[in-house]
Amino acid sequence: MNSTPVQTQAEDLAALLSPESVVRAHEPLARRTTLRVGGPADVYVEPASEAELAAVLRFCAERSLPSLLLGRGSNLLVRDGGFRGVVICLCQPEFSRITIRGQQLECGAGARLKNVAVEARRAGLAGLEFLEGIPGSVGGALRMNAGAMGGAMFEIVETVRVMDPTGEIIELRPEQMAVAYRSCASLRDRVALSAGLRGQPGEAGSIDRRMREFSEKRWSSQPAAPSAGCMFKNPAGIPAGKLIDELGLKGTRVGAARVSQEHGNFLVNDGGATASEVLGLIELIRERARRERGIELETEVQIIGE
Ligand code: EPU
Repeated sequence: MNSTPVQTQAEDLAALLSPESVVRAHEPLARRTTLRVGGPADVYVEPASEAELAAVLRFCAERSLPSLLLGRGSNLLVRDGGFRGVVICLCQPEFSRITIRGQQLECGAGARLKNVAVEARRAGLAGLEFLEGIPGSVGGALRMNAGAMGGAMFEIVETVRVMDPTGEIIELRPEQMAVAYRSCASLRDRVALSAGLRGQPGEAGSIDRRMREFSEKRWSSQPAAPSAGCMFKNPAGIPAGKLIDELGLKGTRVGAARVSQEHGNFLVNDGGATASEVLGLIELIRERARRERGIELETEVQIIGE
């Protein structure tokens, strides 16, 4: 437990960094997540460069402060008490570049997946269309091996540059990264900086058609209201959304948290929901799935804070 006051922690960290890095104390996190619930981070930082990110990680290690990488917050449920530690967001331009090299896209961890799909289309590279509507960043998609429309992130990854807590940078290949369905264990204690993604030469018209099809499928089967995407991993045998639908739970609510009518695996915030309401709804669903179907649902969304 670190007993330094939060304001002092933020000032000490800012003193190590250039003015281009953003450092703030008591930063509300709800507005930085798509579900829009949860309390503040003690310290919030947007490092301006890899060298400054290394300084942030060393600061956290030296003071035994927990750290958390925040992408676009689309798969994150922050508890109402907020996060005791340092939340790091790689959203400065240094981390968001997308560079085309032949059939590979070198993408910074902070790049938006939608922009990656658009750049691939512009370069005539196919195979990345499924990234089109995932509301996340490259770093977040690597961390959880995000997927949609039959594709998953690590199917297109060739290499990932990662930084360890001491600030050292190495390059890893997917087979060295303990990749599984919606998980990449190697990124639990390392920060992904950038990834080389593989495309295949394709015809612009057909790439564009596929992106449109995916977008239409998404809009017709998923809610537009604030959510964290699919809340649960699909258990063996039945998609979680179908299971929740069969249990008759669509529309069930706890406070302003509600099971979407459009898709059973989406829990939406009707406005002003709290994290404890969302957590209450999660427990209600898990309990029904356990009791009525003998299925243990596991959350896909990362739950953090206190
Ligand atoms: N279904 C229902 N009722 C529902 C929802 C779905 O009967 O309320 C049925 C569908 O009709 C379909 C099946 O369940 O037959 C599967 O549904 P869907 O095609 O929507 O796929 P999913 O397995 O529920 C997965 C990913 C989504 C991704 C979609 C589209 C997981 C946990 N979810 O959903 O990813 O967008 O495929 O490809 O793997 C996310 O990870 O946050 C996410 C939204």
